[in-house]
Amino acid sequence: MTAPIVRDLAALRALSEPWVRAGSSIGVVPTMGALHDGHLSLVAAAKERCDHVIVTIFVNPKQFNTPEDLANYPRTEDEDARKLERFEVDAIYVPDGDVMYPAGFATTVSVAGLTDVMDGIHRPGHFEGVATVVAKLFTQSRATDAFFGEKDFQQLQVVRRMARDLDIPITVHGCPTIREMDGLAMSSRNLLLSDRARAKAPILFEEMEKIAQGLVSGAPFADLHAAALRRLAASDFTKTEYLELRANDDLCLLDAPTRPARLFAASWLAGVRMIDNIAVEA
Ligand code: PAF
Repeated sequence: MTAPIVRDLAALRALSEPWVRAGSSIGVVPTMGALHDGHLSLVAAAKERCDHVIVTIFVNPKQFNTPEDLANYPRTEDEDARKLERFEVDAIYVPDGDVMYPAGFATTVSVAGLTDVMDGIHRPGHFEGVATVVAKLFTQSRATDAFFGEKDFQQLQVVRRMARDLDIPITVHGCPTIREMDGLAMSSRNLLLSDRARAKAPILFEEMEKIAQGLVSGAPFADLHAAALRRLAASDFTKTEYLELRANDDLCLLDAPTRPARLFAASWLAGVRMIDNIAVEA
């Protein structure tokens, strides 16, 4: 069954009003479209937990660093709606740009600390754009629960902090990264890879796994890191922005998994910025 596509806030409010009055749970799955199995796993988690589910599709201009990146971002609304059919969600919210950011829009949500590292440095302004749009999607949808992928782990932590700090009454659920058979983390940006680059793409995950295993057997992080950078550079990854071990909760830099930690990477492959992260056993 095709879910209703809602493009304006009044219609979204009219739809959710009876659910709110009845005290039902409402799950929101924020996306920028180009849906893949990773997104669909979030929808499945929302369906399992919540009485009603809203999937949002909005390619948020405020979180892109260049006009080219925004223009190139895949847009596949009809296909996305088809992929959602089997989940029988209650609504697909596809707001127009001026619904999200009407003339005179002047507010930015900025989360300090967690955004001072990794993508916060390499993508200036990105997390302000994310936090601003997600705060709006939370209040617009009046959701009780929100579902995000651990693939964007730093984003997940930023969103959690933002919701807590702004007293938005919502539970933010992090869901595991979904991978292709060869280990590549699913991402809408994978659609931008050439065949040659797609064949090389799993090397990032392979190298991260090697570091994680090396750490478990007590090898020094610096040696593992240097070996991974060498293989990435020899495999068409033109620039690795970061390959770092960080604590799960506050994203502090570590050189050994002395507390719950993850390995985070961002590296450019044939003009496409690939990011990934994996848990590292203590
Ligand atoms: O992860 C994404 O797709 C986006 O950053 C999000 C959370 C939908 C906000 O635009």
